[in-house]
Amino acid sequence: MGVSIKSAEEIEKMRVSGRLAADVLRMIEPHVEPGVTTQQLNDICHDFMVNQQQVVPAPLNYRGFPRSICTSVNDVVCHGIPNDKKLKSGDIINIDITVIKDGYHGDTSRMFQVGETSIQAKRISQIAYDCMKIGIEMIKPGIQLGDIGYGIQKYAERESCSVVREYCGHGIGKVFHEDPQVLHYGKPGTGLVLEAGMTFTIEPMINIGERKVKLLQDNWTVKTKDRSLSAQWEHTNLVTDDGFEILTLHPEYGF
Ligand code: MF3
Ligand code: CO
Ligand code: CO
Repeated sequence: MGVSIKSAEEIEKMRVSGRLAADVLRMIEPHVEPGVTTQQLNDICHDFMVNQQQVVPAPLNYRGFPRSICTSVNDVVCHGIPNDKKLKSGDIINIDITVIKDGYHGDTSRMFQVGETSIQAKRISQIAYDCMKIGIEMIKPGIQLGDIGYGIQKYAERESCSVVREYCGHGIGKVFHEDPQVLHYGKPGTGLVLEAGMTFTIEPMINIGERKVKLLQDNWTVKTKDRSLSAQWEHTNLVTDDGFEILTLHPEYGF
């Protein structure tokens, strides 16, 4: 399968989907507090998406995923399944939202700090954010995906953190995960050459310890093998004629 170039009409639909996904993250923010369960966060998001936004929560039943959002706490790298365990002060959590509106996907995630968190917890969240930002800011026609992966990896490793390799960003549109694969590590001057009209996510998973991960028995939850903290931020992006547009940016958030 090739990499699709979106038409002006498709891009407009992707803007709508992206904004809706961003709105879910903004809506859930005040609910991310000590004592709430990730199942409760799931239910609030599900209700908001289905009844207010009238979007489809893309994760629900996607390849058998049993919930409407992903909630990845502390050493969970990605694809955490909402459950009845309460968040406690000091936890960090990634909430990953994907909506489908009018046939098009918008996919975004961010870290939240629960109560008072450690310096290390704040640091890994910030580094993952910076990695995402570095990657997005490189987007423009003519640059290669290997350049972006290298930029992210170089920054993470300079900060003595590691980049998860088993999971990556992805093309997105009518299909949740389409070509290309967007690795968060790589070599400059390699990989797909970007063209205006491509849409893809950048969603680096950054570990404070080693990069290795393990898949839990539930076949979804991915943890760091060494149980060190992990953090991730994600945006859906469009390649424009002279750079990029972040389709999942919320006007109240910086990036
Ligand atoms: N939203 C995730 C991503 O960024 C994918 C989640 S797949 C699910 O690509 F099935 F776990 F929802
Ligand atoms: Co994604
Ligand atoms: Co996502």
